[in-house]
Amino acid sequence: MPTDANPTDAAPTDGFSPVRDDPAPISALATRSVTHGDRSLPLGEHGLDVPLPSGPAYFNFHWLRDACPATIDPVTRERVFDIAALPSGPCPSTAWIDGEALVIEWCAEDHRSRLPLALLEAFATDAGRVLDAAALPRRAWFADGYAAFARLAFHDIVTSDVERMRFARALIEDGIALVSSMDDSDDALTRLAESLGPVTPTVDGSCFDVRLTIDPVNLAYTARALELHTDLPNEEAAPGVQFLHCRANTVAGGRSLFVDGAAVAETLREERPEDFHLLATYDIPFFRRHPAADYRAHQRVIELDRSGSVSGLTVSQHLQDTIDLPQAVLDDYYPALCRFLRMLREDRFVTRFRLSGGECIVFDNHRIVHGREAFVADSGQRHLRGCYVDRGALRSTYRTLLKRSRA
Ligand SMILES: [Fe+2]
Repeated sequence: MPTDANPTDAAPTDGFSPVRDDPAPISALATRSVTHGDRSLPLGEHGLDVPLPSGPAYFNFHWLRDACPATIDPVTRERVFDIAALPSGPCPSTAWIDGEALVIEWCAEDHRSRLPLALLEAFATDAGRVLDAAALPRRAWFADGYAAFARLAFHDIVTSDVERMRFARALIEDGIALVSSMDDSDDALTRLAESLGPVTPTVDGSCFDVRLTIDPVNLAYTARALELHTDLPNEEAAPGVQFLHCRANTVAGGRSLFVDGAAVAETLREERPEDFHLLATYDIPFFRRHPAADYRAHQRVIELDRSGSVSGLTVSQHLQDTIDLPQAVLDDYYPALCRFLRMLREDRFVTRFRLSGGECIVFDNHRIVHGREAFVADSGQRHLRGCYVDRGALRSTYRTLLKRSRA
């Protein structure tokens, strides 16, 4: 009997006896249809067409063998099947539909696979992304975005899984959320960040404080305006989710600026496709002048996801290094970059608001571009405390909470 036979995998009742260890060479099998009553499916050279509810879809034999649920250890949930150990590759002797599953008997293996049609359907229609609960579509927002930001209270997030899941979902869909009623303490920021995942340190440590300093290592620590940027693109893995806890803001000026960079880039794609192509194709260097470190990295200004949609931006003129692209490429690249930087500042995209003490703005540092208007240095106090959490941790938290809510 097949080693992984599911108790429900009863052999077909049409009198057919499955072929065991079919000695026929693979080349012969590749072109014939192995009979299995009137339910056997034709086998191709490398795969077969499966009649799914949405219509027939082709699946490769290697993929089908690797997708067999029995390849996963039920305890560790890790793959315990070595597809490379099959010298000639996986080859079915027969395949048929049994209820809601595709059943395959494999040549040269004492094994039967039972693959749910729902699994095949998911990969046929959306390359499996539907199986990732955190692969939620991004919701673009524009200049009036502030009014629609998800608003949550600190206490609710750290005490309620429902609110924590709403927080995580907003960060995935909108890339931004506003948290209120934060205690005026360092611990409050750490607790909020850790509600999504471990705090990821940078060269500055686990957290950083944005306020006026005598000898600043960063423009943020002055009273000057901060141009729109994403944080720390000089690091190979730039920080994911950024938290900025406003501890005090009584100065004149200093409004916060936020832009949905993905929405702007998608607009660029429509309005200036040749600019979009350049910014989504070439990497440019970033470098942070720091007294004790020398982090450098090349990044693409417009980042695309696997489906070709804009997933984020990397923009930071104050950390941008001398661009090392061929000079002839720069003839087109620089004007495109300048047009895009100007586009980011257009009123149709920028949402402006004043952060108040006790609020924490949380945003996806790879998608949301942020900046600050200048403020009057001696007009009051302005103190923001910040930290980062990995974007993978955010999505993990969302999936985990969703699973728990459905249990
Ligand atoms: Fe920043």
